[in-house]
Amino acid sequence: MEKIEKRRVVLGITGSVAAYKSIDLARLLVARGYEVRVVLSDSAQKFITSALIEATVGRGVVTDFWSPAEDSEGIEHIDVADWADVIVISPATADVIAKINLGMADTPLLAICLASRAPILIAPAMNVNMLEHPATQKHIKELEEKGVSFVDPAEGVLACGWTGAGRLADSKEIFYHIRRKLSVPDLKDKHILITTGPTRESIDPVRFISNRSSGKMGVELAREAFCRGAKVTLVHGPCTVDVPYPIECVPVITAEDMHQKLMERVFEGDNKPDCVIMAAAVADFKPKQESSQKLKKIDGTVPKSIDLLENVDILASLGAKRGKSLSPILVGFAVETGDLDELLAELRRKLETKKTDIMVGNFASEAFELDTNRVWIVDRNGKTGEVTTTFKSRIANKVLDSIIKL
Ligand code: CTP
Repeated sequence: MEKIEKRRVVLGITGSVAAYKSIDLARLLVARGYEVRVVLSDSAQKFITSALIEATVGRGVVTDFWSPAEDSEGIEHIDVADWADVIVISPATADVIAKINLGMADTPLLAICLASRAPILIAPAMNVNMLEHPATQKHIKELEEKGVSFVDPAEGVLACGWTGAGRLADSKEIFYHIRRKLSVPDLKDKHILITTGPTRESIDPVRFISNRSSGKMGVELAREAFCRGAKVTLVHGPCTVDVPYPIECVPVITAEDMHQKLMERVFEGDNKPDCVIMAAAVADFKPKQESSQKLKKIDGTVPKSIDLLENVDILASLGAKRGKSLSPILVGFAVETGDLDELLAELRRKLETKKTDIMVGNFASEAFELDTNRVWIVDRNGKTGEVTTTFKSRIANKVLDSIIKL
């Protein structure tokens, strides 16, 4: 059964130049079906207006104790505190961080934080020196000890002119941290290593062999596993990987690089994964020899052929090396072009030959470079399930569900 995420977000916005960015966050939340109630501090109102927020979230904005934003029979700040599934403060100033830690309640936002049993997520934005000041660091540390979570600010040029840490984290990054707070943490304490994207095999300094993989499936798997509480490592070929920190991203280029990184990380050290999902489209072959010089036409004729060598089968070597231990859980993906019977036969064959626990199959025409896909999931107990065409984020959750079931 699909896990239902809670969906009520109280968004507190405090007085920082980054306040305008909270409109993006509110819009993102509303677009994904979350209910959002916004609380604006006095100084935030110098940067953005209640009217703008009301138009974005479709609800009244809480601004002071004495004129309620919406009709309510109770006391508004207590109603909002009880209503919240999560309280997000973005951007959060040094001032509000300090006051929450001290338990102050002289503004609606502070009173809501004090009265609510919902988890609190804080996305700070401030001058680098204010952020690094021992007083701010002490408040952050003490709040973390009390169970409050933070989305670390990014580094860069700050509105005040200084350069350093203090920029409000990206809205999408904050969004995934909110989802992690609201989701059922059924992958908590599990480490999942995911590979994604194509690999590139060089022909010469300007050309390579690769494939059409965009890496989107693996990125969605990484995001969704993160939201469900997992610790995630993403080993990726050359592709865009827009995933929230603290997902660890490990870039690689060739299949051999990927093989080496996986062997180290899967079988050595004290950070071994519980599960490896090979969503990468590993190039099956590579040029026997990489030319150190650009290949040129000779007398107007292109080279007739390029000798190829088979690449290492990374998934099969993981399957062989883990042996009977069945640890970590191994999940493979297979893109095929035949009919459904052929696809299912290939999945079962690859389950056996690569010694995996789950194979996920799809058709090239429905998968490459798209945001949607349709897949079949076959597991080592002989179970087969179809996930009809849907967003890759939903497919990712179905794959994670089948890993948990196993
Ligand atoms: N895979 C791998 N190393 C390779 C090739 C594939 O680890 N050199 C993994 C892929 O990441 C995927 C699974 O194996 O999870 C199946 O990939 P696929 O290309 O379908 O398998 P192949 O054995 O290469 O079969 P085919 O001949 O159909 O391409």
